[in-house]
Amino acid sequence: MKAVILAGGLGTRLRPLTYTVPKPLIPLVGKPLIVRMIESLPQSVDTVILAVSYMREALEDHFRVQPCGRKVIIVNEPSPMGTGGAIKNVAHHLDETFIAMNGDCISSLDLREMVKRHRECGGIGTIALWQVEDPSAFGVVQLDRNERIIDFQEKPKREEARSDLINAGYYVFEPEILDYIGKGQVSIEREVFPRVLGYGLFGHRFTGHWMDCGTRETFLAAQAKVLELESPPPPSQEGCCFLSPSLVRSANIRSATVGPNACIEAGAVIGEGAEVSGSLVMRGACLGPGCSVRGSIIGPNYKVGKDEKVEDSVLANR
Ligand code: GDD
Ligand code: MG
Repeated sequence: MKAVILAGGLGTRLRPLTYTVPKPLIPLVGKPLIVRMIESLPQSVDTVILAVSYMREALEDHFRVQPCGRKVIIVNEPSPMGTGGAIKNVAHHLDETFIAMNGDCISSLDLREMVKRHRECGGIGTIALWQVEDPSAFGVVQLDRNERIIDFQEKPKREEARSDLINAGYYVFEPEILDYIGKGQVSIEREVFPRVLGYGLFGHRFTGHWMDCGTRETFLAAQAKVLELESPPPPSQEGCCFLSPSLVRSANIRSATVGPNACIEAGAVIGEGAEVSGSLVMRGACLGPGCSVRGSIIGPNYKVGKDEKVEDSVLANR
């Protein structure tokens, strides 16, 4: 079976970090987001097609150096073609039931079970659904008694949303869906889903956890969730006050307080007396002595000054 991962967005909500690191390669508790997504695919998926455009070279370089155990085909779009256009652009690879997914979510969804459910329903597509309080930032679906989707609204105003069930960004499709995606830039959510409702588009609800990692807040919430689930072992450095759950992959930490919910990537330097919590500090970043970093993402090689206070920010070199 094949899976298409949509990984070509610009990651605008994580700028300036995403000027130099594409969203799929941001480390989520020690592993690039895209690698976590590939690992969540069922064993039956032997080929992963990455639909990319923005910063394609960085993704190519990554998989060249660190293969992921499955065949990865990276397909470039000369310019971003939208979520539907990106799937259409890889149509020549798709001739049987396939998985498609947004490249920026993590969840407890069991895709194997979802594929089984899709085959039982017999529709053109199945969308994983997650329940939220405020659906206005998402695709909102309305179901009938048989879990068939009868309405799809992309990012409606909160008062206009017809349910609290949202598109979790994981799909199982029959190749016929490709016939309903036009040429050029196409949004699957806005243009294709409303058009194929009559051909059997089904919802698949699941429980556990689900998070879109597209903003600083949601990325760091996802990091906290993964840290809670994986609880990495404490580092061996002496003098570092380590508050779990956290991940420390750097040896350059001097009597600093790290955690809870902090990830320090390899090669980062944390100065004496610094405090880091609820944050991601990427490779080679340098936190000056006495500084404090909370709720923030510090990009590769970025320097935070002595005694500087950083809160709720994304800081990165351009
Ligand atoms: N290849 C390619 N080309 N990928 C793209 C393009 C494109 O032109 N545009 C977006 N993507 C990728 C992004 O990289 C991301 O992984 C995924 O498609 C979804 O795009 P986002 O920009 O993150 O969309 P969103 O989060 O606002 O909304 C989407 O996800 C929600 C769940 O997180 C929609 O699918 C909503 O309906 C859904 O609820
Ligand atoms: Mg998103």
